[in-house]
Amino acid sequence: MPSAREKAEKRIDTLRIQLERANYLYHVLDQPEISDREYDKLFQELIDLEQAFPDLVIPESPSQRVGGAPLDAFEKASHRTPMLSLSNSYSPEDIAAFDERINKILERKGEVEYFCEPKFDGLAIELIYENGRLTGALTRGDGAVGENVITNVRTMKSVPQRLAKAPELLEVRGEILMFKKDFAALNEAQQESGVVPFANPRNAAAGSLRQLDPKITASRPLRLFAYAPGVVNGKVFASQEQFETYLDELQIPTVGLSTDKDFATFAKHVEKELKAGKRPALARICRGADEAIEYYHFIEKIRKLLPFDIDGIVVKVNSYRLQQELGFVARSPRWATAAKFNPEQAETVIERIDVQVGRTGALTPVAIMAPVKVGGVTITNATLHNQDEIDRKDVRVGDTVVIQRAGDVIPEVVRVITEKRPKKSVAFQIPSKCPVCGSPATRVDDEVVTRCTNLLCPAIVKNSLIHFIGRRAMNIEGLGDRMIETLVNEGLVKSFSDLYRLKFDDLIALERQGEKSVTNTLESIEASKKTTLPRLIFALGIRFVGETTAKSLATAFGTIEKLETATLEDLLNVKDIGEKVGESVVKAFSNKQLRKEIADLQKLGVHYEAVAKKTSAGSTKLEGKKFVITGTLPVPRDDVKDMIEANGGAVSGSVSKKTDYVLAGEEAGSKLDKASELGVAILDWDAFQALLK
Ligand code: IVH
Repeated sequence: MPSAREKAEKRIDTLRIQLERANYLYHVLDQPEISDREYDKLFQELIDLEQAFPDLVIPESPSQRVGGAPLDAFEKASHRTPMLSLSNSYSPEDIAAFDERINKILERKGEVEYFCEPKFDGLAIELIYENGRLTGALTRGDGAVGENVITNVRTMKSVPQRLAKAPELLEVRGEILMFKKDFAALNEAQQESGVVPFANPRNAAAGSLRQLDPKITASRPLRLFAYAPGVVNGKVFASQEQFETYLDELQIPTVGLSTDKDFATFAKHVEKELKAGKRPALARICRGADEAIEYYHFIEKIRKLLPFDIDGIVVKVNSYRLQQELGFVARSPRWATAAKFNPEQAETVIERIDVQVGRTGALTPVAIMAPVKVGGVTITNATLHNQDEIDRKDVRVGDTVVIQRAGDVIPEVVRVITEKRPKKSVAFQIPSKCPVCGSPATRVDDEVVTRCTNLLCPAIVKNSLIHFIGRRAMNIEGLGDRMIETLVNEGLVKSFSDLYRLKFDDLIALERQGEKSVTNTLESIEASKKTTLPRLIFALGIRFVGETTAKSLATAFGTIEKLETATLEDLLNVKDIGEKVGESVVKAFSNKQLRKEIADLQKLGVHYEAVAKKTSAGSTKLEGKKFVITGTLPVPRDDVKDMIEANGGAVSGSVSKKTDYVLAGEEAGSKLDKASELGVAILDWDAFQALLK
């Protein structure tokens, strides 16, 4: 009879395999086979067993992917063989020259087979598998010595921790990056909680990977594309094609090798799949320079459709025997070249640098530039983030700069063209006084941001009020940014509660206010008094407390008073609340002024329904269902979102195989096409209503 321990050991092993397979299907192939709920069940079973038999816990266990204790620093580690760079070129002619060189050295006349794939714009990483177990993950560093970021890489669900079959030693190199949509969502959340957003997906990936606290990395959606072997013992590959095919078998993510023989078929297929939101195989074996050049032009053309950033293509001699024959020059292999794309950049002049003061008091320098078109969009403003960024790039008023749209969206100053700098230019310094109220502005602790120290600064008050009245917060429709501006300037409103003290006579005295609009404004202020606890918490604008965190806090504490008196320990017991958020909440409520504000708001009539404990009272009609909303519906989208969430469902922005329903209103666009293509159920408003009944 097997002992309880032996039984547990066996079951644990099965669970780990099942969970890793589920991770692969979900995070790499985007084709889950089990539901989130089933996943959670298996995961919980694993946790329970591991808790009962703690000595059976291994670092490769899926349970360890949530991230352990923070580190003081990363350990330095040498690469068994150096991580090299590639010779860069910027034009198709360079591919032709590369091919000519290869043919000359190999004494051939054309038709060398090239393995072509995108050049990923992320950070290079080396994964080390010893006897099938992931034991190291090194950054490139200086090429010879990198840093071991294994504790963070273990949290990446797309990186297998154990390989089903594997040689004694397998080093795999690849790129870690963040998908464009994940980057946008992360930045939105960062901004919402008052954190300086990342400039582009690459920086976001780098920042997330180099976190000393693996729990933070675990919460960041990092992805991997593997593309080259390091040292391998116990397995030989004849070509890059064989190597990447082997990676696919091991479920180590690659960009996939297309099997379409003919280029036109390949191109058509890739474009169609990308437009449908799928992820076709993008690598291709090209014969000779002409086809590699064709590949270059094609990838450049579809670049915008890709879910991640690339900055060119890499052309590699496919045969490893030929690679060996070709060898290296200096720090680059002779058998490969990177052909980069010209980024969508433009030149313009910085007319002035404004310093804006946000809701959290952060002073943000913004470059105001002569209007210029980049990738079809006219750009005039670009954030310069903070003093460190300004210093690093040495951006000054009057400078001619190169700008680009990071991650295809946010404009970014890439560099200064110093040759064009006017003679008398001076370095730009963020003022040590708040540009709005004149109070001292300082940098606290190790923060990069400079903040106004005056909590009553009109800029902070205005922006806090603008946040407070927002759709997702107190939702006071009748008030807009302009009106807040006026109310603060006129001294009518200095705090949240002042909004609820406004009288007809106050408002009618303002410029351009008629009886009708004043009545409407007052009515919408009145209507906002009936709210929900998550909205109220979110509206307070506590740093790091976005909408999602506000919901967790509301569910955990039930009333605003309980939240106000919560200790750090109480807060850390709430799901998804870490040190940083917890401390910020405690600090916010230690402020008497805020507590008085909350009491005043309630005295003035602000109230919320009792918060239902999630599982018992809330409806579960749409439990686990994923919705995408498109087109114009009879009620505002945010309200529809609330309805779905209130019934246990979730809303996301883009249609995928994981979507259960697309709710389509009038003039629904491409999302509807995609839904039909993927066979996702489409609901109109009536069908949706019926579903809720
Ligand atoms: S193959 C000898 N393939 O580009 C190096 N590299 O400048 C062989 N990179 O550090 C590398 N995408 O981080 C290869 N598909 C790809 C790549 C790629 C991005 C990066 C890599 C390397 C740099 C070389």
